[in-house]
Order: sequence, then C-alpha cells, then structure tokens
Amino acid sequence: GKSVISLDDLSIAQIQDLLHKAQYIDAHRKEVSHTCEGRVLATLFYEPSTRTRLSFETAMLRLGGKVIGFAGAQLASVTKGETISDTLKTVSNYVDVVAIRHPKEGAALVASRAASVPVINAGDGGHMHPTQTLADLATLQSRFGRVNNLIVGLCGDLMFGRTVHSLIETLCRFGNVRFVLISPEELKTPQYVIDRINATPTCSYVEVRDLASVIGDLDVLYMTRVQKERFFNEDDYLRLRDTYILDEDKLSLAKPHMAVLHPLPRVNEIAVEVDDDPRAAYFEQVKNGMLVRMALESSVVGDDLPGYEPLNPKEV
Ligand code: CP
Repeated sequence: GKSVISLDDLSIAQIQDLLHKAQYIDAHRKEVSHTCEGRVLATLFYEPSTRTRLSFETAMLRLGGKVIGFAGAQLASVTKGETISDTLKTVSNYVDVVAIRHPKEGAALVASRAASVPVINAGDGGHMHPTQTLADLATLQSRFGRVNNLIVGLCGDLMFGRTVHSLIETLCRFGNVRFVLISPEELKTPQYVIDRINATPTCSYVEVRDLASVIGDLDVLYMTRVQKERFFNEDDYLRLRDTYILDEDKLSLAKPHMAVLHPLPRVNEIAVEVDDDPRAAYFEQVKNGMLVRMALESSVVGDDLPGYEPLNPKEV
C-alpha cells in the first residue's frame, strides 16, 4: 500500500472506487467486520481532534483490526526532542498503517518518507486534509448523485482552512465546478490553490466578501471555522471570527436543494437552528467520514472487502 498525503496520490478512478466502497461498507457492515483482522493502525495526533482520530480508530475497529497511538503529543517522546522521522521509523515496526495529524505543513510527507508502512495525512497544519475531502465528496455524491457540475461556495477562513484546500484541489481534478470563494480580505484563498483553479479550463472562481448576495446562486455552501490556532495575533482572530454566521434568515435566501457542509468543529458560524433544516448535511459528513476511512484503511493495507466488486476493475 502507498501513503496518502494529498488526494493527488490517488487517481480519480481510485477516489471514485473509495466512494463506492464506502457505500458498500455502509450496506454490508457485518460482512466487512473481519476484513482487517490481525492489522494494527497507529494514530499519531500531535494536534487536537474529535472526528478524525475517533473515526480513523472506529474504522479500523469496525474492520476487525486493532489500534494504538497517542492523542496530544505531551505524552509522546517528541517532548524529549524526538523527530517525526525517528518516531515513524519506530512505529513502522509496530503497525500496518499510520494516520498522522500535525500542526506543521509538510509533516505528513516527512513522516511518509521515514515510514516503511503507508501513512495517511489526517491534517497537516493549514495545508491539506485529504480524508476530510473523501467525506465531503461522499456527501456531495449522496446529495446530488455527482461531485461536479455544481456551483460550490466556500465561506469563512479560506486561508488557513486545510479542508478547503484539499476539496478545491480535488474538485478541480473532477472538473466542471464553479467556485464562489467567500472570505474577508485577510483570509482569502492561498495563491497555490487559486493557481490550481486557473490551471483547470473547466473550472472558474469569483472571490467575494458578502455571503447574503451570493447564497441564492449556490448548490453547495461549505462553511468553515476561523482557524484560531493558526493566527499569530489574538486581536485579528477576535475581529474576524464572527464575520459569517449562517442562520435561518440567511438560509431562506438559498435554493431549496442547496447542501450546507461544514467539516466541524463549528464555533458560531452555523446557528444551531440550521441543524434541523433539510439542507444541513454536516452530520452526514461525519458519518461518511467513518465510512470513507474504512474504505481507505482496508485499501492501503491491501485487504479486500468480502463480496465487493470494484467500479472499474481495470483502473483501480
Ligand atoms: N473535521 C475534522 O477534522 O474534525 P476534528 O478536528 O475534530 O478531527
């Protein structure tokens, strides 16, 4: 199996197959529950997480495997000065697959180069979060029957929001997406992500400041949290954190079929009243997050799901 640092490490056919596998797993939970028997996953989380770590771990447990790891680097030997490379050279002896979250961009790539087992990036600083993107794509697929030919609004902290970067990168590969990038001036999408859109002839973007004036055009509204942990200056965070708040009033301007996504955790950016609106899709994303991680973990360790037929066997 190979490492997944960005979804660029997988072909479009492989991504489509993972989404298909996730659906299969959901419908065949009992049949797949021994798929990874004898396997061990390590979760090395140097940064806080609720969904990603618990879903990586639940995914392996539900496939019949076992889990080790740490959550919060304060209990690991990094506090004694150990490098990521040495940690991965060590943990590679213990497990079949590693999921790593780290506050520094590029840490997962460094980890994968030192490891002798597949490494999955569970979020590296403000850079990428590929398994969140799989959950996002699975949610688009179930809501719309497709992941492209959509007008996708992304709103909030587009600079530090790694889930946004991974999602745009991957949607560009599928093509035929119009992006509406809604952010304060200080939190605009990084140039390397804009370059990716510009390099895709079938995709386009606009950058706007105001959510209310564009919400009516959107098929998808991907809300994000202002990433407090990436700010240098507390005052900037406090000034920007409540720039966008999606409530029922604002949602009344949206199309009836629009889907509201959010990688979670949220702070104030989606009012709790929106949770009961049929357009709210963020807790579906959470469920899909576990299913896609089951699909990915079984794939990277090379264990076939019983009874599963690949979508395009020649391509994956
Ligand atoms: N979406 C996401 O990555 O959530 P956690 O930070 O709780 O893992």
